Amino acid sequence: MLRKICLLLLYWLCGSAVAGTPLQAPDPHSFANYKQVRSRHLVLNLAVDFTRQKLTGYVEHQLERADPAVQRLVLDTRHLKITAVTASNDGVHWQNTPYLLGITDNLKGQPLTIQLQPATQAVRVYYQTTPQASGLQWLTADQTSEKKQPFLFSQSQPIHARSWLPLQDTPANRVTYQAEIQTLPELLAVMSADNSANTKRDGLYHFDMPQPVPSYLIALAVGDLHFKAMSADTGVYAEKIWLDKASIEFADTQKMMDAANRLFGQYPWKRYDLLVLPSSFPFGGMENPRLSFVTPTIITGDKSLISLVAHELAHSWSGNLVTNASWNDVWLNEGFTNYVENRIMQQVYGQSRADMELLLNVQALRERIRQLPSADTRLQPDFTGRDPDDAFHQVPYVKGQLLLNTLAQHFGQQKFDEFLRRYFAKFAFQSIDSSAFIEFFSAELNQQQSFSEASLAQWLYQPGLSGEILLPTSDTFRRISAGQQQWLRGETSLSLLATNQWSVHEWLHFIEQLPRQLSPQQLNELEMAFSLSQSSNAEIFTAWAKLVIPLNHPQIIQPLRQFLLSVGRQKFIVPLYTELKANPQWRSWAAQVYREARPGYHPLAQQQLDRLGL
Ligand code: BES
Ligand code: ZN
Repeated sequence: MLRKICLLLLYWLCGSAVAGTPLQAPDPHSFANYKQVRSRHLVLNLAVDFTRQKLTGYVEHQLERADPAVQRLVLDTRHLKITAVTASNDGVHWQNTPYLLGITDNLKGQPLTIQLQPATQAVRVYYQTTPQASGLQWLTADQTSEKKQPFLFSQSQPIHARSWLPLQDTPANRVTYQAEIQTLPELLAVMSADNSANTKRDGLYHFDMPQPVPSYLIALAVGDLHFKAMSADTGVYAEKIWLDKASIEFADTQKMMDAANRLFGQYPWKRYDLLVLPSSFPFGGMENPRLSFVTPTIITGDKSLISLVAHELAHSWSGNLVTNASWNDVWLNEGFTNYVENRIMQQVYGQSRADMELLLNVQALRERIRQLPSADTRLQPDFTGRDPDDAFHQVPYVKGQLLLNTLAQHFGQQKFDEFLRRYFAKFAFQSIDSSAFIEFFSAELNQQQSFSEASLAQWLYQPGLSGEILLPTSDTFRRISAGQQQWLRGETSLSLLATNQWSVHEWLHFIEQLPRQLSPQQLNELEMAFSLSQSSNAEIFTAWAKLVIPLNHPQIIQPLRQFLLSVGRQKFIVPLYTELKANPQWRSWAAQVYREARPGYHPLAQQQLDRLGL
């Protein structure tokens, strides 16, 4: 009898005939049937257990049922332990309801299918996270900067939210949310929501996010965090060690926000704060709304890397307000953001710095295009069946940016920015794909079709970079290249290159323009003059190390080991290990360093580096 019921239940849960409408999952990276039943508000209730390194609690989904005939809700999960599911018709009375955790798909994880009654309005899923959660990094006290308290942070983009809460994990849907987070009383929890600087520090924290956000923007961090205001609407959260330095480094955030407000419309998210994470954070920054997460490697003392703040702030419009509906359209998030970022940098720091940053981006794009399979150099790749983590590279970022630059040159900067401002207003709090952009562009900017359909199609659908791209010229960069050539020809000494005024951009240009073959004498000369192996700027250090690893430059070894053991940002460590692996003389040394460093890396970085097979 019991067996019969189970079989029936299974049939109901997996079959499509019973429910009337077939399951629908238009986002290739999600199981969610959000077009039929939409989760529109979440209530998260979680305890953060640092001893067992897990989150325990429940998430409540308040539902909107577009198709009342549909009798099940499908959520995304990965490596979660589900303990119970209850359902309610009134939000007051809750009853157990049948559910099934489906078969694991390597990319998407496991669908959680929950039975709904016709009147079900909300469900609660009780669960625990497991050590495999790809979206969480648990740090012990000695893996933090201050080494006193443990730390936890989430990284949900693109599809890691499902590893720490069961939900419709697709950027096509948006939710508002509330949360109650319980943790050690010494610690502070913050979220991509209404953090308040005056919260009582008692281990129990409440959050409210009244603006609808896609799942990948739900974020949580817990640690020995403190707050420092930078202006009325901006501030920094960080471990104490970083607090003053960070607030000085990021002091221009308000100016950036003012510039963006002028250009692209009023900042829509109330406050804008930055959270400085431990150095294992695998990215430069993550645009979690109201509270961007950033790596401490941009705190250099000279504001040289704060275009990253401009970038994450820019996402407040491109990405967080107008969102790519699936990860095939990631250029709508990242390409637009690179464009907005560069406009902000231009306004706040001037044309010449913005131009240098653009040129460095283009240089990186060209290098990347050489390495990628041609199909992946299109702005709109098809990531069905592939890991969307791999969709984020220079092509959507910089090729996307160059398309928008090209349009701005064609229509005029001011007219184009006004168009973008209308675009952000029109699609605010919506998720769109490229065709929505194209339609809006045709109707609102290109009515006369002065920008040919053929060139737009070329940009969007053809691989590589073709056609005419108008790039700025940088006199500074030209001077540096000329001086470098003279040195290489033996016509001048390094001390005669006026490097004492060089910014990071100039150093990066100098290093990236150096020939890949340098003699030990030349390396020594560079080292004597500039101590590049000792650079405390992670961008400069990495550019230099990438150049000299293949040349067996002995002076890089100690600092490189130190760097790899203390920094977890993938942009740096993946290329460095890649170069190390390619050098037969250093490979086993690198494998040893990796073994030592690996426990401190984020699960995503571990996965990337494991794939390298050192
Ligand atoms: N949204 C990204 C971070 C991200 C990338 C999350 C890939 C998930 C997968 C963020 O806005 C970003 O682009 N960060 C860059 C910095 C930026 C200045 C190019 C980074 O982390 O390096
Ligand atoms: Zn970005």
